[in-house]
Amino acid sequence: MVGTFEKLMNGSDGGLALLQVLAENSFDSVLITDASAEGKIIYANKAFQKLTGHDSSSVVGKTPRILQGPGTDASVIAKLSNAMNSGVKFEGKAINYKNDGTPFIMYWRVLPIKVGETTIAWVAIQREGSVI
Ligand SMILES: Cc1cc2nc3c(=O)[nH]c(=O)nc-3n(C[C@H](O)[C@H](O)[C@H](O)COP(=O)(O)O)c2cc1C
Repeated sequence: MVGTFEKLMNGSDGGLALLQVLAENSFDSVLITDASAEGKIIYANKAFQKLTGHDSSSVVGKTPRILQGPGTDASVIAKLSNAMNSGVKFEGKAINYKNDGTPFIMYWRVLPIKVGETTIAWVAIQREGSVI
């Protein structure tokens, strides 16, 4: 029996199972990329599919740039890029485009997943914003 949060996280596969339930069922979109320079998507949850219209499995191997278009603020993307190059988190919003071309305001928080000093992947928590 699991009595505390620490026991759940440290128990055999408990932390992993918890993270899977959280990511799959989050009301917010969750997008994970690898740590390569290109930043390929390795996971997108159901809320990402609902938000963007992109099938979650079909975006694996692509990059989040598929969401960008002519109205996307290049200065925000440059700030995100700088933060990523420094290995730090970033929070911002920009115009993105759904699979059918509809523009919307994407609000995201992008964070490094670190093991020790090494960034092994990136995760973004995303939702539709109302103001820019
Ligand atoms: C986990 C993660 C999620 C991202 N999600 C978005 C997104 O939803 N919309 C967006 O415009 N850019 C997003 N990006 C940013 C692009 O993937 C890319 O890092 C950005 O365009 C800067 O690189 P570039 O200057 O080479 O285009 C995300 C990046 C990461 C790492």
